[in-house]
Amino acid sequence: MKKLAVFGNPIAHSKSPQIHLGFATQTGDDIDYRRILAPLDDFARTLHAFRSEGGQGANVTVPFKTEAFAMADVRSERAEKAGAANTLYWKDDQLHCDNTDGIGLVADLLNEKVQLKQSQVLILGAGGAVRGVIQPLLDAGVLSILIANRTEEKAQLIAKSFDERVMGASLQDILDIPYDLVINGTSTGLSGQTVEIDAKHYHAALCCYDMMYGKEPTPFLHTAKQLGVQICLDGLGMLVEQAAASFEIWVGKRPETAHIKEQLRAEL
Ligand code: ATR
Repeated sequence: MKKLAVFGNPIAHSKSPQIHLGFATQTGDDIDYRRILAPLDDFARTLHAFRSEGGQGANVTVPFKTEAFAMADVRSERAEKAGAANTLYWKDDQLHCDNTDGIGLVADLLNEKVQLKQSQVLILGAGGAVRGVIQPLLDAGVLSILIANRTEEKAQLIAKSFDERVMGASLQDILDIPYDLVINGTSTGLSGQTVEIDAKHYHAALCCYDMMYGKEPTPFLHTAKQLGVQICLDGLGMLVEQAAASFEIWVGKRPETAHIKEQLRAEL
C-alpha cells in the first residue's frame, strides 16, 4: 500500500483524499491518503515524521508550498519556475519536489477545448498561484501573458523571471489588446469580492477562468457571464487535473478525471 498525504493549514476541507482515493479505485491501486494539519511553524518536522512512518509521497497546499520547495533535495524544472511545490516524493531517501498546478490548469483548459496556441492571455493577480501557471501556459504555446496586479511591483517581479512574452502591469494600466483568455488568479473570490478592471478587457475573450471555485459562480465569473463571455470556468477542473498529475508521479498511471469532476461538482 502506498502511503500518501496532503499537508496544509487549514486542511480539514481538502478534497484531495476523496480525489486520490477515487483515482486509486479506478486504477486498482491500493493507497492510504490522509490529511495532515501541520503547525504553521513546524511543517518540516511534520513532514519528516510522516516519512519516518513510511510516507512515500505528499501533496502540499497553502501555506507550505514555498517551504516544501526549499526543503527538497531535487527539484523539477516546473517547480523551479514556480518557486513552489505542491507534490513531494522520496527516491533513494532524497526528497524530490514538483509542481503540477500549472499543468493542471492547462489540462483543464484543453479538456474544455479552449485554444491556447497563439492566444493572448490576461492574468489578474500575482501571488504564488499565478507564478505557478506561467511556464505551463507558455509551454502550451500562448503568444503573450499580461500579469495585472493590485500591487504592480509583484506583477513586474514575476514577469522579469520569464521571457519577453510575459509582462506586468497594474490593474489600472492594462495594455489595451484583445485578450482571448482572462484568468482570475487573485484570492478575491474567497471574500465574495471581484477584481475591478475595465469591461473592455473582456470583450474579445472566448474564455474566462477563475482559479477559485464554489457552489455558485464566483463574482469574477458572474461579471464575465454578464459581459457575454461564452466559456466561463472555475478552478474545480484545475484541482482535479493537478491531482491527476501528482497521482501519475506517485503511481505511474494516469487516471481518468471527468467522473471525479462530476462527482465533486454535484457535492458542492
Ligand atoms: P496565492 O498564493 O494563493 O496566490 P497570495 O500570494 O496571497 O495568494 O496572492 C493573492 C493575490 O490576490 C494577490 O495578487 C493580491 O494582490 P496584492 O498582490 O496587491 O496583494 C490579490 N488580491 C487579493 N485581494 C484583492 C482585491 N480585493 N483586489 C485585487 N486583488 C486582490
